[in-house]
Amino acid sequence: MYTQAMSIGPQDQAAKLQTAEEQQREEAFEARVAEGDFIEAKDWMPEHYRKTLVRQISQHAHSEIVGMLPEGNWITRAPTLKRKAILLAKVQDEGGHGLYLYSAAETLGTSRDQMLDALHTGKAKYSSIFNYPTLTWADIGVIGWLVDGAAIMNQVPLCRCSYGPYARAMIRICREESFHQRQGYESLLVMMREGTDAQKAMVQDAVNRWWWPSLMMFGPADKDSPNSEQSMRWGIKRLTNDELRQKFVDATVPQAELLGVTLPDAALQWNAERDHYDFGAIDWNEFWRVVGGNGPCNTERLAARVKAWDEGEWVREAALAHARKRATAAQAA
Ligand SMILES: [Fe+2]
Ligand SMILES: [Fe+2]
Repeated sequence: MYTQAMSIGPQDQAAKLQTAEEQQREEAFEARVAEGDFIEAKDWMPEHYRKTLVRQISQHAHSEIVGMLPEGNWITRAPTLKRKAILLAKVQDEGGHGLYLYSAAETLGTSRDQMLDALHTGKAKYSSIFNYPTLTWADIGVIGWLVDGAAIMNQVPLCRCSYGPYARAMIRICREESFHQRQGYESLLVMMREGTDAQKAMVQDAVNRWWWPSLMMFGPADKDSPNSEQSMRWGIKRLTNDELRQKFVDATVPQAELLGVTLPDAALQWNAERDHYDFGAIDWNEFWRVVGGNGPCNTERLAARVKAWDEGEWVREAALAHARKRATAAQAA
């Protein structure tokens, strides 16, 4: 995904006095963005634009690698070799997405170590969806369908983000996310069409648990999303949280019907006047509780990342020693 938390965080735009020259540069920058130009790493950019991007791209990168954990949990328990191979490939893809995104964020002058340190010390956010547990095999299909589906809705507009390295990373990521979504949906279709009653009930239960957290992936309502307006003006964001959430609901309801599952929302119904589905109220208390670190698996996820980082220290040291040795040999040659 997984960009849910992008518009959350302190508004760090300090009021400051600008010189005439600074103001001119900023106006020229804004004109370029308005024309749809891509901003590249070496171009001048306002400090707040840089900070906003570092926060968003690093949160996105963290979400990719933390997102590997709930699914990785099922690799050893996948029901068939085919499903195991697909899940392994998907989890690897998510690791790759993290790498593209850390690289994109590094072009803005922040090191990977700094970003990972922020994640491991709890200063950085990642998408709250990954703080929910994966209780049954059906959760894996539902994550592909709903979580990767919501991620795609969020991320396709980012392929036109004004910052070139981020936009280019997103093009590749979106292609892979689309496969993730389809494999999840297909695995659920198999369970719903060929499965036992118990398996069908398992799919319905997973949908019941993941539906609302998936809607929360689009972040707070527009009225509670203070950074969105600036991000839209800078071409970092192209659609608001509420617009994206509505698009997701509209796209997903027919898929649920085809699958034969019920979405757990009594208020969900087609509104011909609006030409959209109406849906019920999101439990924002739950959203803020999970964002604030008190979801079902926050502690477990962070502990798993820190453990992996600590246990991988010897690998990083060995890789660096090998790189140094090669560089020395190349110099001597
Ligand atoms: Fe991903
Ligand atoms: Fe994915």
